Amino acid sequence: MSEESPAFLSSPRIVDLTTGVWPQVVERFLLEMPLEDRQAFGAGPALVAEFASGRLGRFSGILDPGKAALVGIVGGWVLDAEAEIHLLYIRKEDRRRGFGRRLLSSYLSDLDRGGVTASYLEVRESNRPARFLYYSLGFTLEGVRKGYYQNPKEDGVVMVRRSSSGSSADAVTLDEGARSDG
Ligand SMILES: CC(C)(COP(=O)(O)OP(=O)(O)OC[C@H]1O[C@@H](n2cnc3c(N)ncnc32)[C@H](O)[C@@H]1OP(=O)(O)O)[C@@H](O)C(=O)NCCC(=O)NCCS
Repeated sequence: MSEESPAFLSSPRIVDLTTGVWPQVVERFLLEMPLEDRQAFGAGPALVAEFASGRLGRFSGILDPGKAALVGIVGGWVLDAEAEIHLLYIRKEDRRRGFGRRLLSSYLSDLDRGGVTASYLEVRESNRPARFLYYSLGFTLEGVRKGYYQNPKEDGVVMVRRSSSGSSADAVTLDEGARSDG
């Protein structure tokens, strides 16, 4: 018998976090985030309470089978044909391994299949890793909310991905994305 693991056991797995035991796992995941990250990325008590109450929007996670652990989550609210993404977070030690791209791509594909035609999010102007990722997946600049964030005070960049442009996300290069942001 081969000692290699089958591919499905060694590749990251996307899970629906709204069913089964996942709400409890997510609650722990959120509570284990560094405090400054919880504050910076809106994963505070209100979101934890939402998970605990079971009144969730649509949330997905990504599992690293090597560690048998949840390494990241994405989620937000869906209302008819519009979605608002509130949280995308990959654990610090697991970043730059492709988890964020994989998780968000899968989430957006689910939204497309569910009939969502416009997905909105907001990101700190200085958050270049996230903005590069969003541009590369078809998000474009929608507007800027001056001084929206506190501690430190900073503009919020509002981005939108319309499903008709989402399918061509791979064609958008990071350089093009960065330029279109001015
Ligand atoms: C943003 C975040 C989700 C990216 O997750 P990740 O798993 O590290 O990202 P990936 O490894 O899948 O990389 C995807 C793309 O993101 C961009 N990116 C990620 N980290 C980057 C970095 N440090 N610098 C520049 N670009 C970066 C790149 O475009 C990358 O594509 P590439 O590998 O082809 O260059 C992660 O950094 C994170 O959780 N940050 C803290 C929370 C946060 O900022 N959330 C967004 C708030 S709106």
